[in-house]
Amino acid sequence: MRILGIETSCDETSAAVVEETGDGDRPWVIRSNVVASQDLIHREWGGVVPELASRQHLRDICGVVDRAMAEAAVDWTGLDAVAVTQGPGLVGSLLVGVSFAKAAAAAAGLPLVPVHHLAGHIESLVLQHGELPLPAVVLVVSGGHTSLYLVEHRGHYRLLSRTRDDAAGEAYDKVAKLLGLGYPGGPTIDRRARQGNDRAVPLPTTRLTHADRNAPTLKGDLDFSFSGLKTAVLRYVRRTDLERGDAARLTEPEIDDICASFQRVVVTTLIERSFDAARRFQARSIGVSGGVSANSRLRADLKQYGELREMPTFVPSLQLATDNAAMIAAAGLRKFRTGAVAGMDLNADASLVL
Ligand code: KG4
Ligand code: ZN
Repeated sequence: MRILGIETSCDETSAAVVEETGDGDRPWVIRSNVVASQDLIHREWGGVVPELASRQHLRDICGVVDRAMAEAAVDWTGLDAVAVTQGPGLVGSLLVGVSFAKAAAAAAGLPLVPVHHLAGHIESLVLQHGELPLPAVVLVVSGGHTSLYLVEHRGHYRLLSRTRDDAAGEAYDKVAKLLGLGYPGGPTIDRRARQGNDRAVPLPTTRLTHADRNAPTLKGDLDFSFSGLKTAVLRYVRRTDLERGDAARLTEPEIDDICASFQRVVVTTLIERSFDAARRFQARSIGVSGGVSANSRLRADLKQYGELREMPTFVPSLQLATDNAAMIAAAGLRKFRTGAVAGMDLNADASLVL
């Protein structure tokens, strides 16, 4: 079984060919995974501009799919299905992928498999490491999401908690912007934090104790919140500017210290909450995926925490951490095996729930 995956939910146009191996523990192998990033286009505006993103997807999608097929050395007759990200994401961007996948599936006479973007991020861990010891707690942490899932059975994802406001990656991007560090902020803050003192700036951690009115079925105490932290950094920067006057801005080492202190709070929160969830649900492993799982401190601390507590931990490779179509193809294969296919009336859903 071989599937073409298509991902266009945000600002990466991606296509991939993934194949089943027949090995139950390592179910899939990547034949190709082509990603066209739009970072350079959005950098100029300090964040993703949805209209520019969808127009660029439109320009890139045919070439990206062609390349993914060529690298995998397959043609349309060598495929068994087409998987596509249905949501969540930017609706204009999603529509490009969904429309392309529908047209391709119809023209080639292939089944169409709709995939939830976060199911893709969760399955990126299996793509990388093989099946996880279950039950597993998986944290999906990216520019748009910070959500904890419990995976009790393969392909079943139970939402345990999520962020009440900003996603962790969004907080990285906003803090980078207010420090004048450009977009996307994650990689820059990560790099600068390595030179800084992570205790230099006192910043708050948020612990929620009450249920979310918008999600009353969840207990709420495993939820995340990062907007207070972002505001605390903003206040600290404003206060320093005010005290010194405009002549003396923050020095480069001071910016490094802010980055390190901010990163310590974010990473510690993400890890502690994941381990709390693992304890509560007696998980046998913890996975972290999504763009922020590329963070060097998160990777190092997660490994150390896991080793100390004898809990196996998993992160994807850097290429599989950020948005890519191989993870969508993998989640698509999983879903296709259960018989889930969509008709030609499939529509993009910007706020699709998992
Ligand atoms: O998964 P992703 O590519 O797209 C979304 O679905 O959002 O994640 C992108 C996010 C951005 O917010 C970016 O700043 C963040 O991941 N990111 C990082 C790092 N690399 C990317 N955050 C922290 N440290 C990094 N090294
Ligand atoms: Zn993503």
